[in-house]
Amino acid sequence: MSRAIVVHRTGGPEVLEPSEHDPGDPGAGQARVRVHAAGVNFIDVYFRTGAYPRPLPFVAGLEGAGVVEAVGSGVAQLGPGDRVAWASAPGSYAEVLVAPAGQLVKLPAAVPEEIAAAAMLQGMTAHYLVHALRTPRAGEVALVHAAAGGTGLLLVQMLVRAGLRVIGTCSTEAKAALAREAGAERIVRYDREDVAAAVRDHTNGRGVDVVYDGVGRSTFDASLASLRPRGLVALFGQSSGPVPPFDLQRLNSGGSLVVTRPSLAHFVATREELELRAGEVLSAVAAGSLRVRIGAEFALADAADAHRALESRTTTGKLVLRCA
Ligand SMILES: NC(=O)c1ccc[n+]([C@@H]2O[C@H](COP(=O)([O-])OP(=O)(O)OC[C@H]3O[C@@H](n4cnc5c(N)ncnc54)[C@H](OP(=O)(O)O)[C@@H]3O)[C@@H](O)[C@H]2O)c1
Repeated sequence: MSRAIVVHRTGGPEVLEPSEHDPGDPGAGQARVRVHAAGVNFIDVYFRTGAYPRPLPFVAGLEGAGVVEAVGSGVAQLGPGDRVAWASAPGSYAEVLVAPAGQLVKLPAAVPEEIAAAAMLQGMTAHYLVHALRTPRAGEVALVHAAAGGTGLLLVQMLVRAGLRVIGTCSTEAKAALAREAGAERIVRYDREDVAAAVRDHTNGRGVDVVYDGVGRSTFDASLASLRPRGLVALFGQSSGPVPPFDLQRLNSGGSLVVTRPSLAHFVATREELELRAGEVLSAVAAGSLRVRIGAEFALADAADAHRALESRTTTGKLVLRCA
């Protein structure tokens, strides 16, 4: 037996209960991993509340890093002692995880487990948003909401490296300083400024080429209103709540606008694409060209506090659980 955060019923952070849990032995195609650190992501909140349905009970978490203890039959690419990380292995808030070996990638020696657990899911998300969803062009202008969040800080850095100019939004001066440090040239305090007006002002009335919106309900209208004709909104999350249905005619009157609602899973669907994205993110981290900010670390047993912090809007960068 080992310790894990088991969700027996959906609800508030209090349903994240530390429990004894038997992950079992690795079956065919699986590996058993001693989890050193697990990443805390907003998607974990959606599963916890039931906003994204999942059969109960389940062990929370999708992301982490650790060391392989044993492998099942048919696993040739990994063995005991290998340091690995992952972004999509359900049950990661645990001391021990049994996961499909195909979800695990080997870690470069220069990347510590905590950093890998912080970088995998949000880093590969930023990577597909910048490089796969559309072709980035130098000189374009992007608007990134929640620019000091875990995904936001990585997204800003990757966009700037791809040659784009970035306008970021956030809710405090401390967050504004972090987003500027990551490379945003203009910060809009969306808690007190009109975002679309500030964006028009900063772009001489033109609007931005692309908006990265992981906030959803409270920002979506401003996202549409901030675009240039034929611009794209990538609505990739809903930390403020889901976007209500809207009249598609708004896309026409806004200038033949495009909206997409992407998910990481569709951009790491093959082993080849997973290795490409994880490889580029982890090698940039190892080289120091992508900085990962761990805003706070929590003990595994305090996963509920990590969720409270994430939902309270007080966090910056990534939250990580120390597991084993
Ligand atoms: N589709 C995908 O592939 C994918 C992958 C990864 C993440 N995501 C999404 O990306 C978004 C960001 O995830 P993350 O884990 O990096 O979180 P995060 O950005 O570190 O934290 C959420 C941030 O959203 C902002 N926010 C605005 N209104 C909020 C509200 N009512 N409640 C809570 N937060 C609010 C806050 O920043 P301010 O205080 O600055 O407003 C808060 O710090 C989430 O929606 C997540 O689901 C999607």
